[in-house]
Amino acid sequence: MKELQSDRRAFIKFFGRAGVAAASMSIIPGCIPGAKDTESSLPKLPFEPIAPTDVDDLVLADGFNYHIIAKVGDQINATEMFGDQNDYTAFKALDDNPNDGLLWVNHESTTPSLISNYDGKSSKTKEQVELEMDSVGGSINRIRKNKSGQWELVKNDPLNRRLHARTPIPFEWDAPIYGKTEAVGTLANCAGGLTPWGTILTCEENYHDYFGERNYQTGEKLQEGFFQWEKHFDHPPEHYGWVVEVNLETGEAKKLIGLGRCAHEAAAVHQEENGICVVYTGDDKADECIYKFIGSEPNSLTKGKLYVADTDNGKWVSLDITEQPILQENFSDQTEVLVRMRDAAKLVGGTPQNRPEDVEIDPITGNIFMTLTNNVPKGDYHGSILKIAERDNNKLSLEFTAETFMAGGQDTGFSSPDNIVFDKQGNLWFCCDVSGASMNKGQYDKFKNNGLHYVPMSGPNAGKAFQVASGPLFCEMTGPSFSPDYSTLFICVQHPGGHWPHGGDSIARSAVIGIQGKALDALMG
Ligand code: FEO
Ligand code: CA
Ligand code: CA
Repeated sequence: MKELQSDRRAFIKFFGRAGVAAASMSIIPGCIPGAKDTESSLPKLPFEPIAPTDVDDLVLADGFNYHIIAKVGDQINATEMFGDQNDYTAFKALDDNPNDGLLWVNHESTTPSLISNYDGKSSKTKEQVELEMDSVGGSINRIRKNKSGQWELVKNDPLNRRLHARTPIPFEWDAPIYGKTEAVGTLANCAGGLTPWGTILTCEENYHDYFGERNYQTGEKLQEGFFQWEKHFDHPPEHYGWVVEVNLETGEAKKLIGLGRCAHEAAAVHQEENGICVVYTGDDKADECIYKFIGSEPNSLTKGKLYVADTDNGKWVSLDITEQPILQENFSDQTEVLVRMRDAAKLVGGTPQNRPEDVEIDPITGNIFMTLTNNVPKGDYHGSILKIAERDNNKLSLEFTAETFMAGGQDTGFSSPDNIVFDKQGNLWFCCDVSGASMNKGQYDKFKNNGLHYVPMSGPNAGKAFQVASGPLFCEMTGPSFSPDYSTLFICVQHPGGHWPHGGDSIARSAVIGIQGKALDALMG
């Protein structure tokens, strides 16, 4: 990732952004349909964007194809199965072979009717809860390209491994967290990120669904979990809501307390020349905040300073208790500040956002892009993508400018952006996440099923969204990431609600797929 960033920066330095646009676009054949009044001025794309659709299928633009790599319930070894509700993906080549490696997949949530045969009415048994606990977290899967160029799960590979809600995971911190030095399990694993040293970050988002949340004024539970797990396992909410670092070769994991606790959606890591890392994260809850962590030791995310974004004034505000009297008045120590990061952020003036989702660093400009999916109570139905430019493009700076890069809506043809990824050419891909309850209704009717969009970042179409894929009914497409040679876009179909992929009367299953094809090859140049 770092290599790509520096290569592209060198390129832009030589050619300038317009030069990059011309060089990139000149190799792309084909044309864009519609937009007749400006057709002659449009650069050529190698695919015709699809129209939104509400069919119960995965629909791709011509020039793309897909194959299923693994779906919930597939055995990855003798005792463990591929988990449910797939989200973030990250591929790590083994022995520098781009066609053979480990695919990490997040398993964000569980489908009780499928996983534990829960009838939705009675009290869950301990065995049912254990089945559900084993279906979340993440999985490490050896995958390899077959002779036809498609990826296959290598079942029973010794590196295949599950991390789930019963896996012991230590806290990377020098003080206990709610009395313990390790948590039982990881859960609510939504999106994630990569570290410069080849591990992955998996982010615990809606942790309150599992072991609830505490009211810190009374010490009592503020809310119970949604899944009834607390009936059989009394784990404290404070043990979840962290960014978790995982070594894919060993399965070793640790919860990075220094990055704070919230409904972490994703994490984007930048590394300075001296090895110091900067991490951007967001809290996916309405009116919650954007955060930045600046490490204090090279090649480590353990210790550092945490800041919250004041986007009204373009300032990163310290969450260090030694620098903020108001934090000293309200918290006993820095550990408590980190455990209750949301409360601390509001006390120092963090700006409430419209549900921060995925975050990525533009490999060409170095700007930070964060999706703000929507905030219906505040009248934001379709969300936007926020662009943050650090002062002098210095990630250590405590000043920045923030502006809307793209806004969802009828004019732009998308609603509720969520996961994003930059490709080899520095162009942007994003997935949408209109909730299943709102899909194909009211304000959201015209957008149909959630899908995947491609956004050129330069040329006359810069900042315009072109739809590449539409997911099956009620799903969101999640976790886009590329293979090392950019011949495959790994992406997930999460919580489909119809009958995909088997059709008939079957219960729909979440799956991770590989998208390939001549259109993708042409876009990657
Ligand atoms: Fe799990 Fe905010 O998406
Ligand atoms: Ca998400
Ligand atoms: Ca991403």
